[in-house]
Amino acid sequence: MKALQIGNLKVEVPIVQGGMGVAVSLSGLASAVANQGGIGVISSVGIGLHYGTGKYTRANDREGFRHEIRKARQLSPNGVIGANIMLAVSDFDNFFKLALEEKLDIVFVGAGLFIKKPETVTTEEFINSKTKLVPKISSARAAQLTFKVWDEKFHRLPDAVVIEGAKAGGHLGFKKQELLDGPKSIYQIIKETREILLPFQDKYGFEIPIIAGGGIYTGKDIQKAFLSGANGVKMGTRFVTTHECDADINFKMQYINATKPEDVVIIDSPVGLPGRAIDNDFLRGVAKGNKKPVSCPFKCLKTCNYKEVPYCIAEALYNASIGDFENGFAFAGSNGYRATEIISVEETFNQIKAEYLEAKFNAKRAEIDAILV
Ligand SMILES: Cc1cc2nc3c(=O)[nH]c(=O)nc-3n(C[C@H](O)[C@H](O)[C@H](O)COP(=O)(O)O)c2cc1C
Ligand code: SF4
Repeated sequence: MKALQIGNLKVEVPIVQGGMGVAVSLSGLASAVANQGGIGVISSVGIGLHYGTGKYTRANDREGFRHEIRKARQLSPNGVIGANIMLAVSDFDNFFKLALEEKLDIVFVGAGLFIKKPETVTTEEFINSKTKLVPKISSARAAQLTFKVWDEKFHRLPDAVVIEGAKAGGHLGFKKQELLDGPKSIYQIIKETREILLPFQDKYGFEIPIIAGGGIYTGKDIQKAFLSGANGVKMGTRFVTTHECDADINFKMQYINATKPEDVVIIDSPVGLPGRAIDNDFLRGVAKGNKKPVSCPFKCLKTCNYKEVPYCIAEALYNASIGDFENGFAFAGSNGYRATEIISVEETFNQIKAEYLEAKFNAKRAEIDAILV
């Protein structure tokens, strides 16, 4: 696979591990992926629940994030380490500043349109950031809007863009009806985005890397993404069933025990977005109208109406990450039922590379067969 070049940052294997909260991708998974030549991504959301001394606070959130970044660096001194920070997080601006202070290689910013400079950094720091800045969006239209605003307001472009399709795990950037109606494939969105980015590429004189995610699971999917115009891929679900994934073994077993596509369902997240998860009694109970008492420690998410939500999603996801599925559930992409064993990150990379080579070989063979006919 061709290396992914993001400005002066070279990523030997063009695989970005999707940041997964709460406490599913921390320094353990991120460093293991970085050591294989990909981009390892720490999920910053709800990290304080993992770090707190029994109490979820903003201070624990920030300190936990800083600690995980430093730990990942220690475990992978030469690897590429990033984090994902969600705009929906009420402390977004401080998380962003912290990422720059800690000199992360790259930050991915999703759950909203990244078109405003965080107030915690100066315009100078923002524009000249050495940390690569990458918005995550779900349509070519959103890409166009984002790039237009950056061009006009900041006179610079994002360093790359993540396009996330509807088959991803976690919260989704699509309306529930769109998901039920059958949304556009990720490959179609890549093609449209490539078109839309052309004038920006011409103006700034570089090819804007497109990193595609959501339902990319095999080397064959990667080959298809590259043929559609992507330069890299973002994979979350495939990395959950690895030894190094930071979640409890029970979390990984939810994936192993899911065996058919119907085991992965679309849910209405209490924060007002659809999400995709492995079905379980907790979710079935919520769908029937069950409520869990919510004592919101601090308003961690801008969009969470903590007085009305049926449960605290930060707590439910944290419970899942420590293996408590009576009080939680596991987010998963649409391929969340496919893994049959837990293996190492190194083995996962080797499998993906072999699948990719096989897909390329088969494509070549089909080409030759077509000529010979
Ligand atoms: C368990 C899980 C948790 C996730 N949590 C987050 C998150 O906190 N923030 C975010 O922006 N994306 C989150 N995602 C999305 C991933 O970062 C990634 O983009 C996505 O999983 C890619 O699709 P795939 O799972 O089909 O490979 C999560 C995905 C999973 C599976
Ligand atoms: S109730 Fe909502 S805002 Fe409060 S901690 Fe839970 S997820 Fe965060």
